[in-house]
Amino acid sequence: MSKLKSIPKVPWLNSIANLLRFVENPIPVVTETIEKYGDTYAFYLGGIRYGIISIDPEFNQHVLQKNNRNYGKTNLQLDILGKYVGKGLLTSDGDYWLKQRRLIQPGFHRSKLALLTEIMQGVCDDFVQELNIEIDSGKEDFEIDEKMMELAFRMVAKSLFSTNYNDEMLNALSGNITILQKFIIREVRQPYLNWWFKLSGKINKHLDIAKDSDNLLLEIINERKRSGEQKDDLLDMLLSSRYEDTGEGMGDQQLLAESLILFVAGHETTANALAWLMYLLWKNPEVLQKLRNEIDQKLGDSKAGFEKLREMNYASQVIKESMRLYPPAWIMDRVALNDDEIMGYKIPKGAMINCFIYGAHHSEKYWPDAEKFDPDRFEPENVKARPNFTYFPFGGGPRLCIGQNFAMMEMQLILIELTRNFDFELVEDKEIVPQPLITLRPKNGIRMKLKKRQP
Ligand code: HEM
Repeated sequence: MSKLKSIPKVPWLNSIANLLRFVENPIPVVTETIEKYGDTYAFYLGGIRYGIISIDPEFNQHVLQKNNRNYGKTNLQLDILGKYVGKGLLTSDGDYWLKQRRLIQPGFHRSKLALLTEIMQGVCDDFVQELNIEIDSGKEDFEIDEKMMELAFRMVAKSLFSTNYNDEMLNALSGNITILQKFIIREVRQPYLNWWFKLSGKINKHLDIAKDSDNLLLEIINERKRSGEQKDDLLDMLLSSRYEDTGEGMGDQQLLAESLILFVAGHETTANALAWLMYLLWKNPEVLQKLRNEIDQKLGDSKAGFEKLREMNYASQVIKESMRLYPPAWIMDRVALNDDEIMGYKIPKGAMINCFIYGAHHSEKYWPDAEKFDPDRFEPENVKARPNFTYFPFGGGPRLCIGQNFAMMEMQLILIELTRNFDFELVEDKEIVPQPLITLRPKNGIRMKLKKRQP
């Protein structure tokens, strides 16, 4: 190990000097530091600890894929998130995680997703109809980011529970999850206030809210169990899956944790991706036109359907390029479980590693004219020409997002229905800027005028 280089380190005084800016918005600070120190650098974390940030594809591939066993999840997901949502796919590591992943993975197989297309199309159609009613009643401006949040939440809810819930339950659940997410961000961003959160009863209050969500979910799950009904939805998949070794199914606590995690992991990410997508399409009318041409040529007036979606190449390129510029999961963190070596750099046990997805997606090295929105970057030959891990909005390696295909299908369906049914125009009354919280959301929202499109 002695011959190994050390990672370029930002002097601790500089790290501290930038702390306030970093807490406000880490993206510009990290981007500037990369320009100065290179694609992989170390920064001061407090005490004697340093963290590492990288946009280097080889480095990130090593962490997430090649030697992934040496890089565990940090306490951010395992403990802070886990405390509220329970132990499940997103919030566990090691053998337990692998066991859950093997159990749940088949539920996201292509054949299962095909069964969800109809449910998703139904949610889209209802949403379009509701928008039409609002427009007919004289409404012009819509908070697109909020609308997308509502829509993405319903998509997960319907895909999980198809018919077994009512709107009241759903609103309560959605409200609870929003409150929990806001508090989790505070716990992560202000760890020095942890003593106060405990003392003032805030943590207990939020644990109660989590318990409330569990009770709502439990009611739905028990009703399904009692009825003995079979539905082609994700809950059915969770209920009917069996562990290979024991042949038994999941217990109630596991079912609860995994369902809640699908909500948490699956709705805000997709909603933000869709809000940015609408914004980029408004900014790039020639891309919108090309997309509409594809819809006209390949679908005419008919609904997409599972097989047809696979032929909508341009729609999928547009979504991918949008998630390049605004990756909903903008950073991923891991901790080194043992000493390691990456590209000649020494990685000490305990080092906290941040794979900076946003930075990798904006690097001029791999993305000429990086700020330009150009879906042709995702033409197959262009994709082949780029190294792996220059683009990884869904993460990578064994912990690749389990909902990747679900999300792509959902976003395609929504994109098709929104662009064929509505014209949209940004209400330019506020600055559109990304705000990196747990996901990358538009800080001041995105407000748009929607008009019905003439067929
Ligand atoms: C545009 C939408 C989405 C994006 C950008 C996204 C991104 C990601 C990323 C980057 C990870 C890896 C996190 C890590 O390892 O630290 C992840 C994991 C995960 N995602 Fe997604 N996701 C999206 C949609 C969804 C949907 C729709 C679902 C479920 C319906 C979902 C469920 C999950 C789960 C359960 C995990 C944990 C997987 C594991 O560790 O085995 N995601 N997602």
